[in-house]
Amino acid sequence: MSQQEIIRKKRDGADLTAPEINAFVSGATNGAWADYQTSALLMAMFINGLSLEEQNALTRAMLASGDQLDFSDIDAPVADKHSTGGVGDKTSLIIAPLVAACGVSVPMISGRGLGHTGGTLDKLESIKGYNVNLTTKEFKRTIKNCGFAMSGQTAEIAPADKKLYALRDATATVESVPLIVASIMSKKLAEGLDALVLDVKTGSGAFMQQFGDAKKLAEALVETGKAFGVRCEAVISDMNQPLGKYVGNASEVYECVKILRGEADDAMQPTLELAAELAARILTLCGVADSVQGSKFKVQSSLDSGAALDKFRQNIELQGGDPAVCDQPENLLDASLIRAEIKAETSGFVTEINASAIGECVSRIGGGRIKIEDQIDFAVGYRCEKKIGDEIRRGDALGVLYCRRENQIDPIREKLTAAYKISSERNANDARLIKEIVGSF
Ligand code: URA
Repeated sequence: MSQQEIIRKKRDGADLTAPEINAFVSGATNGAWADYQTSALLMAMFINGLSLEEQNALTRAMLASGDQLDFSDIDAPVADKHSTGGVGDKTSLIIAPLVAACGVSVPMISGRGLGHTGGTLDKLESIKGYNVNLTTKEFKRTIKNCGFAMSGQTAEIAPADKKLYALRDATATVESVPLIVASIMSKKLAEGLDALVLDVKTGSGAFMQQFGDAKKLAEALVETGKAFGVRCEAVISDMNQPLGKYVGNASEVYECVKILRGEADDAMQPTLELAAELAARILTLCGVADSVQGSKFKVQSSLDSGAALDKFRQNIELQGGDPAVCDQPENLLDASLIRAEIKAETSGFVTEINASAIGECVSRIGGGRIKIEDQIDFAVGYRCEKKIGDEIRRGDALGVLYCRRENQIDPIREKLTAAYKISSERNANDARLIKEIVGSF
C-alpha cells in the first residue's frame, strides 16, 4: 500500500494492519515518508483513535526502530518506574537506590524538563560532575556495580519516537492516549524490563489534568505493558499541588538526600510517601515480597539501615559525581541566591494551587527550559510553605522564591500569589496523594 492509501484508510476510520503500521514507522524514521505524510497520518490517528491492536502494533514498530537492552547476564529482576511528569516530582532519585538496595536492578533512562515540568537528568546534573550521558556499555556496567544507573536516551533507543514526537509537537497531535502509550512504552520496553510501575499524574500540574483522562491513560499503558509480557501497574497520583517541599533542580536533590538520610521534615513527607508506594509496588511485581505491605517494610528497612543512601552514594561515584552531597546535602543549596517570601493577601484556607504556574515561575527564573536549547540555573527554585487545606493569615508566607536577580521578583511574585486560591472554608476536594491503582499482572 502507498503512503496515500494508508493515510486514506485511517482518515476514513478503518483500522490499519500491523504491516501498514510498520511501513509508516519505518518510512517516517528513514525518510521514505515525507514529514507532511507522516503528520497527516498522525492527525488521522489523533482524530479517529487506534484500536488496542493498532496501539500495540505501533508500540512494537517504534520499539523495533532501535536497540533493546539485554540484562540476561544480570542475576536479578529488572524494573523501572515512569512518571508522566509533574512539578516537584523527584521520586526517581529515591526509588532507584531504594529498589536497588532491595535487590532489583533499575536501568532508568530519563528525560529533561520542558515547560513547567522538571526532568530527572537536570536534577542529577545539579550534582557536580554527575554524568547523564552514559554509553550503553557504561550504563550496563554501572547497573552491574551498584544496581542502578540513570542516564539519557541514546540515539539508538526508539529513534522513531524522536521523529514522531517532534512532528506531534509541531502539529498539535500530542494529546492522544494511543500515541502517548506507544511513545512512552516503546522507550520503556527497550529497557528490557521484567516489571514497570507507571506514576500517572492528575491535577493542575499534570499532563492529564482530569482524573478520567489520567485513568484512561493509566489503563492503556498497563494494557500495552501486559501485552508485551511486562508485569505492569499504574498509580494515579495527585498533581494538584507541587509534590513535597521544593521545586527546582538542586533543591529537589537536597530533598531526596534528606529523605534517604532519614531526615525528612513534615513538608517532605508526601515525597517520601509516594516514593515508598511506587518502590514497594516495583518490589511486589518483582516478587521480592508477596504483598505491598511486606514490600513497604523492606523499603523502610533499607531507609533505616542507610542501605539506600549507600546505593545512591555508590551510584554518584560511579557516574562521576561528587558523593559528598550524601554527607553534606546543604552544599547543594546556594546561599548567595536572593530570597523572596510570597505572602498571602487574605486570610482563610488554601483550597487550590495552580501547580503548573509554580513550575512555570521556576522555569522563568532560569530553573527550567522554555525552549529545548535553554541553559538551566540548577540552584534557583521555590520552597512550598503552605499546601491545600492549610489555614493561613494575611501576610503569612505561602512559599519562598530563590532567584538570581532582584528584577525577577516582582513579575514572578504576582504570578505566584495568583497561583493560590484562598477561601473562607476548607474545601472537600479529594486531597489524597494516591488516587487509584490500575492493573496488576
Ligand atoms: N511523554 C512521552 O514520552 N511521550 C508522549 O507522547 C507524551 C509524554
